[in-house]
Amino acid sequence: MQRDRKNDRRRLRLRSSILVLTLVLTLAFVPASYASHLEPFKSVPIPPANPQTPEKVELGKKLFFDRRLSGDGTMSCATCHNPEQAFTDGLDISLSYPTTKNWRNSPTLINVAFHKSFFYDGRASTLEDQALFPMMSAFEMNKNLAYLEEQIRVVPEYADSFRRVFGGDVTKERIAMAIAAFERTLISFDSPLDRYLTGDTSALSEGAAKGYRIFEGKGKCADCHNGVNLSDDRFYALNVPENPVLLNDPRVTATMRFVAKVYHYADYKNLKEDPGRFLITKKRADWKAFRTPTLREISKTAPYMHNGVFKTLDEVIDFFDEGGGSGNKVLRPLNLTPEEKKNLKTFLTEALTGKEIVIKYPEVP
Ligand code: HEC
Ligand code: HEC
Repeated sequence: MQRDRKNDRRRLRLRSSILVLTLVLTLAFVPASYASHLEPFKSVPIPPANPQTPEKVELGKKLFFDRRLSGDGTMSCATCHNPEQAFTDGLDISLSYPTTKNWRNSPTLINVAFHKSFFYDGRASTLEDQALFPMMSAFEMNKNLAYLEEQIRVVPEYADSFRRVFGGDVTKERIAMAIAAFERTLISFDSPLDRYLTGDTSALSEGAAKGYRIFEGKGKCADCHNGVNLSDDRFYALNVPENPVLLNDPRVTATMRFVAKVYHYADYKNLKEDPGRFLITKKRADWKAFRTPTLREISKTAPYMHNGVFKTLDEVIDFFDEGGGSGNKVLRPLNLTPEEKKNLKTFLTEALTGKEIVIKYPEVP
């Protein structure tokens, strides 16, 4: 009797420790499996080296709209990242410095605060670094940065602002820091998806809710498009078809080969396609790999992909349904029914649009 009770107690203890162990294991594995799920907006990551202040954001906004940042004074950041077009320029291949041609699509700046790397090939690692690229780029703003510092410093209002915000002088690094602070305010939040994920089951229409299940299930979209920003920040070679202008327009070819030359690609003179991430890592596996983009605000950012080859979301969905571009090793055909494709599109267009970002245009000094 006595011994039975002791055994019972021991068994109970064993059972409860198994329970605790299971709980611990479950908790340990939840984040891993959660990684391929979508998450609601919570907060914006801000690097400690560049804290946000309202005055810095305002200064960054002025610089973002200031045409002094381009060599011939015709372009600002907003020329290619236009607030009226969800911070893109709406073209397949982006605008460019006069007499030159760009070679890639202008991505939205909404939610760049969440990115772990920048550009389609990830060649910049912070938003602060990134901002200097377009200014220096021969085919974007074509600006001499030492000259820009002088041009900004002679404007009393700017000189005062830099002193107040940074406690010192105008430098190109501080110009970039202020612009980055402004970019970190361009956030997509309070979308139907955010409301749905925080418990409001009526936030998605029936079609969008079905599309959401396809997105995480049969469509496998959330394998790569996951987390708060619907991006895993990794690079994949989906073999998206080339934009024909890459070879049909010699100025676009020149730009592509110029970038390849700058990144020490030996055979740049014969380059006939966009090498993607390969240019940065020189790893064979990264040939034509591009970063998983955010899908937030996706209904406003057509055309799609690094080269804008797809005009509509239907074309993008067909591309994934067919298992991606020829010869890719990443995607498999999905065999979605027309109904499933329709629901997927409803999810993309209805669920991912947040509160409208209203920009009060600054007065550039
Ligand atoms: C002439 C058009 C043009 C101008 C002007 C321009 N950009 Fe861009 N921007 C682009 C294109 C095209 C890309 C993509 C290039 C690539 O990935 O190789 C890009 C990429 C970016 C990215 C990376 C986004 C991402 O998803 O990784 C950021 C951030 C950005 N630009 C900010 C700026 C800022 C800040 C300025 C002004 C200092 C600026 N751009 C000026 C065309 C432009
Ligand atoms: C293996 C990872 C992966 C999977 C799975 C995946 N995507 Fe993507 N997606 C990407 C990458 C990488 C790009 C960018 C390709 C480029 O720029 O050339 C992209 C681009 C897109 C774009 C264009 C975004 C833009 O701004 O241009 C849309 C829309 C999209 N994906 C939706 C989907 C949908 C819907 C599914 C599921 C049917 C899906 N993706 C599955 C990695 C993935």
